[in-house]
Amino acid sequence: MKTVAVVGTQWGDEGKGKIVDLLAADADVVVRFQGGNNAAHTLVVDGEKFILRLIPAGALHPGKVCVIGNGTVVDPLALAEEIAALRARGRFLDDDLLKLSCDAHMVLPYHRAIDRAREARAGRRAIGTTGFGIGPAYEDKMARVGIRFDELKNPRRFGEKLARNIAEKNKYLAAMLKAKPLKAKEIANQLGRVRARIVPYLCDTGAFLAEAIAAGRRVLFEGAHGTMLDIDHGTYPFVTSSNCIASAVFSGAPLAPGRLEAVLGISKAYTTRVGAGPFPSEIKGVLANRLRTEGEEFGSATGRPRRIGWFDAVLARLAVRLNGMWGLALTKLDVLTGMDPLRICVAYQFGAKRYDEMPPGRGVLERARPIYEELPGWRESLSGARALGDLPTAARHYLERIAELAGVPLAMVGVGAAREATIVLNNPFRD
Ligand code: IMP
Repeated sequence: MKTVAVVGTQWGDEGKGKIVDLLAADADVVVRFQGGNNAAHTLVVDGEKFILRLIPAGALHPGKVCVIGNGTVVDPLALAEEIAALRARGRFLDDDLLKLSCDAHMVLPYHRAIDRAREARAGRRAIGTTGFGIGPAYEDKMARVGIRFDELKNPRRFGEKLARNIAEKNKYLAAMLKAKPLKAKEIANQLGRVRARIVPYLCDTGAFLAEAIAAGRRVLFEGAHGTMLDIDHGTYPFVTSSNCIASAVFSGAPLAPGRLEAVLGISKAYTTRVGAGPFPSEIKGVLANRLRTEGEEFGSATGRPRRIGWFDAVLARLAVRLNGMWGLALTKLDVLTGMDPLRICVAYQFGAKRYDEMPPGRGVLERARPIYEELPGWRESLSGARALGDLPTAARHYLERIAELAGVPLAMVGVGAAREATIVLNNPFRD
């Protein structure tokens, strides 16, 4: 297949970066289509650790074109910093390899200030955002007062819009959020310094992708966050501000519907989430601490400790349905070594009723109790496994049960952080 999307099936942090990096070896173009630098993909390449926030994970393969589509919101200062950091490490040296949609919206310092001030004032109602201004930037896009990258081509007009927006946001910050106003001149200067570095990347990503696909090139669409953080389908309001499911590719890359050939869902062998909101299979205490430490479950974007839980098959089935999933990549199976017994949430109990499928209205999740199935664990290290046959029987049974409950075939299994620590059963680009 030639067009493949990778999406998270949980609350983000499923290990998409590693799988995208692995698949990127077979792709010509890698595309981000939603979200911003609230995403953080951790990759380990030749023993070196990289965290990518805005630049698609293809950046670590020489010669791959990286596209940031119109559905994203991009902080120009963070983008310039990320490019410079990669360059300093001898990566991503060719400017022609980055295409940034001129229609993508900018995340500006006032978005960050509003995000942080709102969260600080929300107390127990806080969402636990990354604080990078993502929600306020998408709000401005929908309110039709956002600033798109295309505006950078005309510095005078850009300066006017920026000044107008800062004046308005300063009033809002002071009156509603009791926060300090921002200095318009300082922001204009900061952006002026990065402008010339960013303009050469601007592109009509839709036209670029249509041409690449017509020329038979392989395109990988890299989702950020996860299905349960989707603005429509996730645990609203404890979600991010974009659509994170595969259909966002069509509006946000963009790609014409019908041109996407496969969707690969990524899930951890257990579940994590950062920030507030319902999490039916959450566990606490010694076991959670152990998984957090073994799995290094601390947010790559913010460093926050992630909440931990068992694998939730109800969520997995919802993600399979919403994303039209072709296959599932299960990551971090190795982290479960030594946990015995293992549990999988197979349904929810709410009142007198059992729900095998996601109940309508996510509010129910606040009070839904998980119904677990127990499976035996294993003690052997999995890190050297490269085929299913290398795994202990109990690990194979765990995988089979997850695939059966989720209703989707397994395509890959992660057994360690490195690119090569992966059992590849089916690579969509080679199918
Ligand atoms: P925001 O996207 O910064 O507005 O944060 C909204 C919610 O989404 C918070 O609970 C964040 O922790 C969560 N979130 C956003 N991006 C990611 C991600 O890439 N991984 C995990 N959680 C995320």
